[in-house]
Amino acid sequence: PVLVVDYGAQYAQLIARRIREAKVYSEVVPHTHTLEQLLEREPLAIVLSGGPSSVYAEGAPALDPALLDAGIPVFGMCYGFQAMVQASGGTVARTGMGEYGATRLIDLATDSTLFSGQPVEQSVWMSHGDAVTDLPAGFTATAATGGAPIAAFEDPSRRLYGVQWHPEVLHSTFGQQVLENFLRQGAGLTGDWDAGSVIEEQVAAIRERVSDKRVLCGLSGGVDSSVAAALVHKAVGDQLTCVFVDHGLLRQGEAEQVEEDFVASTGVRLVVVDAKDRFLDALAGVTDPEEKRKIIGREFIRVFEQAARDVVGDAAADGHPVEFLVQGTLYPDVVESGGGTGTANIKSHHNVGGLPDDLQFALIEPLRDLFKDEVRKVGLELGVPEAIVWRQPFPGPGLGIRIVGEVTADNLATLRAADEIARHELTAAGLDRDIWQCPVVLLAGVRSVGVQGDGRTYGHPVVLRPVSSEDAMTADWTRIPYDVLATISTRITNEVASVNRVVLDVTSKPPGTIEWE
Ligand code: XMP
Repeated sequence: PVLVVDYGAQYAQLIARRIREAKVYSEVVPHTHTLEQLLEREPLAIVLSGGPSSVYAEGAPALDPALLDAGIPVFGMCYGFQAMVQASGGTVARTGMGEYGATRLIDLATDSTLFSGQPVEQSVWMSHGDAVTDLPAGFTATAATGGAPIAAFEDPSRRLYGVQWHPEVLHSTFGQQVLENFLRQGAGLTGDWDAGSVIEEQVAAIRERVSDKRVLCGLSGGVDSSVAAALVHKAVGDQLTCVFVDHGLLRQGEAEQVEEDFVASTGVRLVVVDAKDRFLDALAGVTDPEEKRKIIGREFIRVFEQAARDVVGDAAADGHPVEFLVQGTLYPDVVESGGGTGTANIKSHHNVGGLPDDLQFALIEPLRDLFKDEVRKVGLELGVPEAIVWRQPFPGPGLGIRIVGEVTADNLATLRAADEIARHELTAAGLDRDIWQCPVVLLAGVRSVGVQGDGRTYGHPVVLRPVSSEDAMTADWTRIPYDVLATISTRITNEVASVNRVVLDVTSKPPGTIEWE
């Protein structure tokens, strides 16, 4: 792989994604990796990420100078650039001329490796206080800015490159080209990787590992568990049993997508547990959001546990132990948890609870090297229905936390109908890819006066909460065109009895969270 050394902040994952966009497989490693650990991975190239510290700060992560003489192409960005300078005898100084945000490049060497084929005029995204003032021996400066006399350099004979800015962010107008120039011309990598190649690798690996044992998978209706199940099914066929707990809190048509479309298109053997009444009973009279979450999580794990016992029992009766559990862990989870291997706890889609000790399985996590967009690609190649592959993020507790007030069958039906209309109209307006997710929230505990036909109504409001986001950590409310909002509003109030008002949530996150509960 191409290894991205993570110097902190959030840049490393984005860099890895950009490298994969250039069709070169890439992984993130912590900066605490020693040179030996790096070399063990036989990296085709190494990228040093940006980071929050100054190379002079106490305890700032240093770069082992030997890395620059290991014969491996290296590309330093921002902090990584300065660390290269420091490791090879140049000077990084506090010039008092920091640059933050969009910055114009000057003196760009378009005959250099990184910038060949690019325009002289480029804007790049900067974020630095210190600047490189003395080039280390062997390097040539290839760009400058007003605040950074040496903003980029290279030593093509040793295949070492660096830029002061962040080529991975979209604000750097030719950032992706700079990165590709490094990968192709600097490191000589052709770029023949794509997410689909994971399928064959994983299928072979899973087959070998599972052998003739049985495998269990909990399906939530979301992208990750569906694609993971489809991949494992491709490897071991009917040795896999999927369990889908229908808690009755999914949106219109979603349970059917799992129970019918997913099964029809993948051939997966599916056990459906209809637990709708059980969840409704457990939620009766409960309005506190955290209590709802706890109840839903608890009931889910109990129902899943029982279903798992049944599957395990039946298989054992046939002489086939169930030894494995599939989980849809993705690469960002792996990186965030420090890259460790998973332990045999079920990550239910409620992120709670675990299975009892006598129900422990070895984990199969076939998506743990992939980013979300890559998982979607794999899903499409495996024939998972598009409606599932392109599903927006949906919380495990489902509509249970989108009803402010009590979760009842009536309230669920009302919210489902309103949500269905909003989703349909947003899709029809071509807005799906602009929106990260659009919760529709029923304020079951609120009534307001309205007038419909000739009569006064006393109904409930629904809230539209469309947000744009990269990762759900922060979000902005999406500026949906007024006419689309108008259509949604008119249709909901006309078609959904008991809703007489549609309101738009115009709060970013922070301060608001995406969900209302
Ligand atoms: P918030 O509301 O915290 O949501 O801004 C961030 C993202 O997480 C989802 N979400 C949940 N997902 N269980 C989940 O599996 C939960 O309890 C839960 N609460 C929020 C939310 O939909 C958004 O994508």
